[in-house]
Amino acid sequence: MTVKVITWLDERLGLTTIYDLVLDRKVPKVNWWFTLGSASLFLFVLQGVTGIFLSVYYVPSPGQAYNSIQYIMNGVTFGWLIRGIHSWGSSLMVIIVFIHMLRTFFMGAYKFPREITWLTGVFLLFATLGMGFTGYLLPWNQRAFWATTVGTEIAGTVPLIGDFILRVLRGGSDLSAVTLARFFSVHIWFLPVVIIALISVHMYLVVRLGISSVPKEEESESSGEAA
Ligand code: HEM
Repeated sequence: MTVKVITWLDERLGLTTIYDLVLDRKVPKVNWWFTLGSASLFLFVLQGVTGIFLSVYYVPSPGQAYNSIQYIMNGVTFGWLIRGIHSWGSSLMVIIVFIHMLRTFFMGAYKFPREITWLTGVFLLFATLGMGFTGYLLPWNQRAFWATTVGTEIAGTVPLIGDFILRVLRGGSDLSAVTLARFFSVHIWFLPVVIIALISVHMYLVVRLGISSVPKEEESESSGEAA
């Protein structure tokens, strides 16, 4: 019966083709460093799922934000766990994405034909950092408030357009309800949409081009001689 259902669906949706293309493709002999892209992807999904749960109780207004977090920590069943995973996960994701970037850099995986994979990766790194920056304000505690005050101040030191950037980030000259609202919006809508789009292109290219292999010593030696 199950086989019949699967065959029925496969004939219409091409499931085995998708499976072969995405999950059963040939990969060169690789090592543990090659797992960090998938680890980044896993962490992004984990952040998404825990973030959605947090949004059930979190209230993005200066009068309610702090208390709603306290309630998540002390009143909601496993709220402390969900928030813990989300806040530790954010730091872990930045670290893992960064090491994934170093791996692709040191193994020369950014070279032809993977330049666009690298380029989308660079934007993914910035977007991931942006998630950390906007998320940090949301608990609306002293640390969050002053970290964002300093962070936006630093952005404000850009020559010529610094003041403009600072006002756009804060939604005025000071941190206020407007700042909290726009950081929340950027954190749960703008950046996630951008990241999902970038990951889609990134993954399309990984599937299309295949994974690069570990550079061999002889290759670098011979190219050294040729140069
Ligand atoms: C949210 C962030 C990211 C996710 C989810 C992600 C995901 C992945 C995955 C699953 C792979 C294939 C497996 C692997 O090689 O590890 C990959 C490959 C790759 N990624 Fe990322 N990545 C991210 C960020 C970055 C960054 C920041 C860069 C560089 C600036 C980058 C550059 C590359 C390159 C060049 C490859 C091809 C590697 C090869 O063919 O050997 N990625 N990425």
